[in-house]
Amino acid sequence: MAFTMLAISGSLRSESSNTGLVEMARRLAPETVTVKVDVSISALPFYNPDLDTSETWPDAVRLWRDEVQRADALWIATPEYSGGPTAVLKNAIDWVSRPMGQQVLTGKVISLAASAGGGGGARILDYLTGVLSFFGNTLVIEPSLSFALGAQRISADGTCTDPEIEALVIARLAAVDAALHSAATSVPHS
Ligand SMILES: Cc1cc2nc3c(=O)[nH]c(=O)nc-3n(C[C@H](O)[C@H](O)[C@H](O)COP(=O)(O)O)c2cc1C
Repeated sequence: MAFTMLAISGSLRSESSNTGLVEMARRLAPETVTVKVDVSISALPFYNPDLDTSETWPDAVRLWRDEVQRADALWIATPEYSGGPTAVLKNAIDWVSRPMGQQVLTGKVISLAASAGGGGGARILDYLTGVLSFFGNTLVIEPSLSFALGAQRISADGTCTDPEIEALVIARLAAVDAALHSAATSVPHS
């Protein structure tokens, strides 16, 4: 079986360690998972319900919605900002969680990772786990990818000075692959 995973960084910083975690996923993913790295969320306008209809979606929103719809899995790596999600990631989530009944952020296998400050992004991982589960997705959060001061060890190009981080990323990618196979072969309840 072959799957597509959209990998998203919640940081716009050029030297972002979370972009590094995205690049690590691209480099280390198993052959069954094709990783597409998304760079379009920074082009999204601020979410506005007035624009959130199929007649009025701006081009960047259509592109983002299509990317999410086509993906079997999402790989989200993000910092924590002020105890919450970064604005660019929260905005991107809002655009795919509505309109009610047409949301495309559902039925996905979603892997969460955080490279943040001293707390390793624990609050943002909890928040995202809750909200993305609520939307009907399967969250893959083991082994934990929560890196305190990860920017000291992970470069934006996906190189890493800590072999333990690379081993954890490989283990997480294997867990995502297993979840994708399980979702593809599970028999729906009647
Ligand atoms: C505006 C701002 C707010 C931040 N707030 C938090 C926070 O609440 N918790 C935390 O652990 N780190 C916080 N940080 C630190 C970042 O999460 C950390 O620098 C992270 O490595 C940035 O990710 P990046 O390397 O992908 O850009 C904050 C940084 C900025 C710029």
